[in-house]
Order: sequence, then structure tokens, then C-alpha cells
Amino acid sequence: MEFKLSGQHQMMQKLFREFCQKEIAPYAAENDVKAVFPTEIIRKLGAQGFMGIPIPAEYGGAGADFLTYILCVEEVSRACASTGVILAVHTSVGTFPILNFGTAEQKQKYVPKLAAGEYVGAFALTEPDAGSDASALRTLAKKDGDDYVLNGTKIFISNGGHAQVYTVFATVDRALGAKGITAFLVEKDTPGFRVGAIEKKMGLNADVTTELIFEDCRIPASQRLGKEGEGFKIAMSLLDGGRIGIGAQGLGIAQAAFDEALKYAQSREQFNQPIFNFQAIAFKLAEMATQIAAARLLVYQAAFRKENGLPNGKQASMAKMFATDTAMAAATEAVQILGGYGYSREYPVERLMRDAKITQIYEGTNQIQRLVIAKALEKGL
Ligand code: CAA
Repeated sequence: MEFKLSGQHQMMQKLFREFCQKEIAPYAAENDVKAVFPTEIIRKLGAQGFMGIPIPAEYGGAGADFLTYILCVEEVSRACASTGVILAVHTSVGTFPILNFGTAEQKQKYVPKLAAGEYVGAFALTEPDAGSDASALRTLAKKDGDDYVLNGTKIFISNGGHAQVYTVFATVDRALGAKGITAFLVEKDTPGFRVGAIEKKMGLNADVTTELIFEDCRIPASQRLGKEGEGFKIAMSLLDGGRIGIGAQGLGIAQAAFDEALKYAQSREQFNQPIFNFQAIAFKLAEMATQIAAARLLVYQAAFRKENGLPNGKQASMAKMFATDTAMAAATEAVQILGGYGYSREYPVERLMRDAKITQIYEGTNQIQRLVIAKALEKGL
């Protein structure tokens, strides 16, 4: 059993860290305040090959393994959590749908552009009345000759308006429940498709999140992904991988919060000594460091299992749940350690606390992760 990253993984981790601290971290606060999509940073990520890390070289990706991609999401998120989720959504649930379930034509048409960062990908599952209960979605895909006509509204769509291709889930027959759900690839400028309201959020402001509206949006059958009725299973299997990515995002946020808190505790003096000397503060840092170490093992283990074709749904949910709960706990403690400064925008920890909160909610709330884990236990997995 090995408990360290391979030499190659360590080298990539160093490369990601140096790039992200230099090119992304300095802009994180400004992007949060302005709530703008970081187009220039995404262009740089594309130029570095970071938008297609686990995508095979034949489709223009870096052809690296899933753990390398996870290390990248962690480092990007450590520098800027908004950019981290843009990358994670683009890759795990924006590019993998086409790579894993697309026809040869669909792969050729989209994957090279996505892997190069020329296109950004997005995933449209959630609706006003279908959040945790994803199979209750109501967007209708009515067959009409060789086309489907889509009508409905999606909400909380990460990368909304900035993605060029969306994997959209709709039902061909509401009476069929999960078995009617079908996936489609919808391009940005398709007539009948428009981006609705931009969500005003607590945090993760540079990851623009929008409504998507489909009004008699005609899609040729060649844009259907997989067979009719396969959409729910496609969505669930993609989310298994996506949740490892969100676990890595949580890990990055937790590490950033810890780094700030440790630095502050060692430099801030009260009662004529660094506050790190007080057990009340040192024990908080000890607790944070322990939880982060445990989260890292869970996230890397889930990535290892996925890469090696081992069952990983339960491990993905465990990693997502634990790492994102750790992010929230670490960011909250970091604010406490920094005291009044922690609550101020002068320091990054208040942003980290706002950004951490959503990681416990999206790609399946942490209550849904417990449900997935419990279902796996019931099946003896
Ligand atoms: N892989 C493949 N198939 C799966 C699967 C998986 N991981 N999980 C379930 N399925 C299959 C089941 O085997 C079943 O198939 P059969 O009927 O043939 O047996 C079918 O799907 C239905 O399964 P369930 O009965 O378990 O489905 P359910 O309706 O009870 O829902 C759920 C399960 C886990 C609650 C699911 O609805 C869920 O994950 N909800 C959360 C939704 C979610 O994560 N949304 C995230 C939105 S994307 C996002 O957040 C991105 C972002 O912006 C960051």
C-alpha cells in the first residue's frame, strides 16, 4: 500500500500549484466582488492544457489520469473556488458526457474543442421542482419527425451563458419517471434556447450560475446523447465522477482556509505573544489539519478507484460529503481565528466561508450523499 503520490503526480501537483498561485489567486477577490466569469483565466487554463487533463490525446486532451485532474481541481480551487468549479463542471459533467456516451460524430464535433478550452461545457439537470429529486424533472422533449422539441426551464446552471455546449436532461414522457429521461447536446445559439436570469448568490460569484429556458427549441435527433430513456443513468454515472471533483474543490478551499489561519496565528500577537501559543487556537489548527488530511485520503482514494475501474459511487459520495463538510468547518474556524479581520473583506477567509457553503449543497446535497452511501451499504457494496 502506497500513501504518497507518484513522482509524476508530485511533479504535476507542483506545476498546478505554481501556475494557480501566480495566475489565478491574485484575481480571486476581485472576481468575487465583480461577479464576472473569469474568461481570461479560462483562456489561460485552456492554453496550459488544464481544460482537458483526463481527456485522451486522440481528442486533443492531455491523456493524463483522473487523479492528475483531481490534483488540478484541488490547486485551482485553493487559488479560486469559482474557477475550480468552472473547471470541474466543464470536465466531469461537461466533457465526459460526450466522451463516455457520445457517438463517434458527437465526440469528433465537441470533445477536441472542449479539451482545448475553446468551448466550455455545462450540465443542465436541475429544475425549480427537481433538485434532490432529479428524476422529477419536467422539461419535455417531444419527438417530431427526426427532431425533438424541448420546452422547460433549468435553474442553477453553472457556466450558464458562458458554455458553448450544454448536456440537457429532458423527459420524453413524464409518466415514465426516471425511465423517460433522455440527454441532449444543445449548442449555445440554438433557436428556442436562451439563458435566463443570472442567480444572485452568497458566494462563488465568479462562477456565473443561470437559468436556461427552452421554448419550442428544436433539436435534431443526431444531438441526442445515448438512447431515449437512458438519460437518468447517464446523469447519475456522471455525477459519481463529478462528486470526486467537488470533493477536490472542497479540499482546495479547506487547504486555503488552513493556510491563511496558520499564517495569521503565527504572526498575530495578543497578550505579547503569537496567538498560536494559545491552546484554544493551536487545537483548532490541529483539528483542521487532521480533517484535511482525512479528506485528502478519501478524495484521492475515490479518484484512484475510478481510474482503475473499481466501483467508486460510494467512495465518491463519501469523499464529496467529508471534504466539503471539512471545507465549511475549516473556513468557519479560519474566520474565527482571524477574529474581526476574518469577517472583513481585507482577508480572503470570509470569501472562502461563503464559497465553501455551496459545496455542501451542489452536485447532490450532503444529505443526498448520505442516502447514496446508505443505499450502497444496503446492497453490500
Ligand atoms: N450510476 C448508474 N445508474 C444509477 C446510479 C449511478 N450512480 N444511481 C442510480 N442509478 C440507476 C438505478 O440503478 C435505477 O435504475 P433501475 O431502475 O434500472 O434499477 C435508476 O437509476 C433510478 O435509481 P434510484 O431509484 O436510486 O433513483 P432515485 O430517484 O431514488 O434518485 C438520487 C436517486 C440519488 C436521490 C438522485 O436523484 C440524486 O443523485 N439526486 C441529487 C441530484 C444531484 O446530484 N444534482 C446535481 C446537479 S448538477 C450540479 O450540481 C453541478 C454543479 O453546478 C456543480
